[in-house]
Amino acid sequence: MTVNYDIKDLGLAEQGRKRMDWAEKEMPVLRLIKERFEKERPLAGVRVSACLHVTSETGNLMRTLVSAGADVVLVASNPLSTQDDVAAALVAFEEIPVYAIKGESNDLYYKHIKAGLDHKPQITMDDGADLVHGVLKEYPHLIADMYGSTEETTTGVIRLRAMAADGVLTFPVIAVNDSDTKHLFDNRYGTGQSTLDGIIRATNILLAGKTFVVGGYGYCSRGIAERARGLGANVIVTEVDPVRALEATMDGYRVMTMVQAAPLGDFIVTATGNKHVIDDRAFATMKDGCVVANSGHFNVEIDIPTLEALSVEKRQPRAFVDQYWLKDGRKINLLGEGRLINLASAEGHPSAVMDMSFANQALASEFLVLNHGKLSNGVHSLPKDLDVEIASLKLKAMGIEIDVLTPEQVKYLNSWQEGT
Ligand code: ADE
Repeated sequence: MTVNYDIKDLGLAEQGRKRMDWAEKEMPVLRLIKERFEKERPLAGVRVSACLHVTSETGNLMRTLVSAGADVVLVASNPLSTQDDVAAALVAFEEIPVYAIKGESNDLYYKHIKAGLDHKPQITMDDGADLVHGVLKEYPHLIADMYGSTEETTTGVIRLRAMAADGVLTFPVIAVNDSDTKHLFDNRYGTGQSTLDGIIRATNILLAGKTFVVGGYGYCSRGIAERARGLGANVIVTEVDPVRALEATMDGYRVMTMVQAAPLGDFIVTATGNKHVIDDRAFATMKDGCVVANSGHFNVEIDIPTLEALSVEKRQPRAFVDQYWLKDGRKINLLGEGRLINLASAEGHPSAVMDMSFANQALASEFLVLNHGKLSNGVHSLPKDLDVEIASLKLKAMGIEIDVLTPEQVKYLNSWQEGT
């Protein structure tokens, strides 16, 4: 083997391949795209650097890009989310250079990002905009040869829009998160199920009858709220957006400020894309034994430095649980170092939703090549017809048929003269 890599253990490759094959069975849309890509080779010779969570689903996206002819490098998009067996399988069986080790330090994380940029990508595929950030800050000479970038997540899109508003985003980026077949499913059902999965795997605490506070009511947080309610928890939502707060209220949740919710919560979980949603004011009144976790992209949603400063001791009663002993005797249990708990202590979103997210990623990379030179600099959505095509393929794979408009209905919808 000639590829360079930095992974935990190549000996895990066989297990990683089995897990990727298992995931692939739930990814029929991506499989169809892969079959087409094998024939058409739309990315032949294109250098792609992907900074994604290294999971069995991502493994299947990498296989798809390689089938399209791309020259791919994969690096971790979070220090705690890597599945080491998948990283090994991609190196051993697909000959993809992978730079990702679960539990890597911040330093190593950025060294791995650099390895992604040293590949001189013509397309960057981000989950959190770290490669784009790196290109703009340290590798601007790559821009002249770039088709553009794709971005997976809400937090990344927020960052990219800030770059565009500052006038520094000098190439096109496809915000995959904007597609309906991404955020309506991955963010809601994926984050919903996998976040509860992560919290339960980390703590094994019963949720029924507990008070569960959710920070935010975007698609991720509403998925978490819905699944926590399904497990019998009393759910409280905190929000800054009046419309979303109203929606949460009419969806049947109690809505209040984080300061009001903090002393009530047995669990407090954030997924907002913003920083310090849980801060010193909340730590001041939390219950003894409160479980605190984050499912947003970055670990800044919880003010961990302040929690550290308030503590006299830190213990680890279980894997992925840091128990902070406060000066007044209360204990606060922080899960997964405040990093996305669905990927830290569980396996991330189930394959069936990643199928659609990564179908969007695959089509977005093809779209960038097909439209080279035609897209303006800045953030774009994938065209609606591709989004609808992904939904249609998913329905077909699920064996679900839907009605078709009759010519009479089409005429009715397009005319204003027909009356009522
Ligand atoms: N983000 C959330 N879940 C994921 C998964 N299973 N694979 C890749 N990225 C993810």
